[in-house]
Amino acid sequence: MLWMIKKKAGRYQRINSQLSQLLKKTDDPIARMASICAVLHHKMDHYFWTGFYILKNDKLIVGPYQGPVACQELEKGKGVCWAAVSSGAPVVVTDVHAFPGHVSCASRSKSEITLPVFNKEGEIKAVFDVDSDQLNSFTDTDRTVLEKVLDLIFATHIRS
Ligand code: SME
Repeated sequence: MLWMIKKKAGRYQRINSQLSQLLKKTDDPIARMASICAVLHHKMDHYFWTGFYILKNDKLIVGPYQGPVACQELEKGKGVCWAAVSSGAPVVVTDVHAFPGHVSCASRSKSEITLPVFNKEGEIKAVFDVDSDQLNSFTDTDRTVLEKVLDLIFATHIRS
């Protein structure tokens, strides 16, 4: 089990430095979100759906993503993405079927992590959502690394 945790942490570290280089090329948040999705989705084994929902006029509208076709808009106040907006904090769900109100856009989804995306002013501008087709895929390692990656979206200076 320890080797799996180490493997995941090592892979995240490499992804983080790759993204730090890549995202310097533009400060456009949507372009940065698209690159983050593509890199993470193709490099992390347990990522089955990877994407953003943009918070706009009190609605969560689908943004850049990789994976099966997803819901265009998420009903306000329901599901794991809105839970991250309401609490202003990441939400880790070990079994989506045990989460009251979970919105199933992709039927193979079994566990999930959602994290709010903040701009420089500390306002929530989007939610990052990753689904896995395995139970219990996300831990503190995922949460910590993803928080750092998401901080790059609105960063004015990205250090490598
Ligand atoms: N499961 C999410 C909806 C988005 S999809 O998983 C892509 C939720 O409960 O908010």
